[in-house]
Amino acid sequence: MYKVLLTDNLAEEALNVFTRYPDIEAVRTATLAKDELLSMIPEFDAIIVRSPTRITKEILGHASNLKIIGRAGVGTDNIDVEEATKREIVVMNASSGNAVSTAEHTIGLMLSLARKIPQAHQSVTEGKWDRDAFRGTELQGKTLGIVGLGRIGREVAKRAKAFEMNVIAADPYIEKEMAEVLGVRLVDLETLLSISHFVTIHVPLSPETKGLISEKEISLMLEGAYLINCSRGGIIDEAAASEACRSGKLAGVACDVYLQEPPAGEPLLLLDGSVFTPHIGGATREAQIRVAVDISVKVAEALVNGVIRGAINSPSGASGPKEAP
Ligand code: MLT
Repeated sequence: MYKVLLTDNLAEEALNVFTRYPDIEAVRTATLAKDELLSMIPEFDAIIVRSPTRITKEILGHASNLKIIGRAGVGTDNIDVEEATKREIVVMNASSGNAVSTAEHTIGLMLSLARKIPQAHQSVTEGKWDRDAFRGTELQGKTLGIVGLGRIGREVAKRAKAFEMNVIAADPYIEKEMAEVLGVRLVDLETLLSISHFVTIHVPLSPETKGLISEKEISLMLEGAYLINCSRGGIIDEAAASEACRSGKLAGVACDVYLQEPPAGEPLLLLDGSVFTPHIGGATREAQIRVAVDISVKVAEALVNGVIRGAINSPSGASGPKEAP
């Protein structure tokens, strides 16, 4: 019998997937404290996590039976993939199930910035009626610069086109023709930053993208531009973005993700014209079911039938059907 641990309150629908595999016993829990996870992990052949659980070298050191780590979502920066690969553990993700939710949240943040919706709400709930304080700006005719035209970036582009925005993107891995199909002009990052009224980030966190938008890049941006980050903390230099808002260089930032989550004493959080949410880009009922079911099927198929789909690493011993222990 294989044992699979579903952590982080994975959508319950995941359990229905495992009932179709008699050789698998699935155990569903809330997010476990590190010590609990350390003591439980040796019994499991696979684990499925959302972003709160960190699969570190220390956890992997105790995971004597672990063959697969499934990530119910896109970002695998909470998993020590290098260490997992050394230990011949396959890491797989659910790469598209929350793209629409994250794109919709990005548009929500852009509208919140443009129309100062959170601040106006706050003001009305405080009994004020100050219409002049909340004069905003339209999206129509403005340029939206999308950094990273992957699954989420493309969903953002489609929605921004419906607002009649001029959409441009910087992504060295995307073909010009594919961007053109979406009505998006591909440019380099410097050009994007220098002509966009709104800049939104949709790249994974990697050594290449860490600090991608720092002081120098922000200095290239239009006076009074807005910056949105629904991808990963650390891609925007928070101190530099904060300073740019304070000096008036940027009109505001909207962040769903932070270098440290939850953010503690971040300079950004003190900014007036800005908008912050607690990493909820993919947190819709629909997306959570989609990613949970998708990753559960992938993990079950890999364990029982040796079919590896959606792996982001390739340990040498990871192919071929497996025998139930
Ligand atoms: C993702 O990486 O899929 C999203 O940021 C949502 C999450 O972390 O759960």
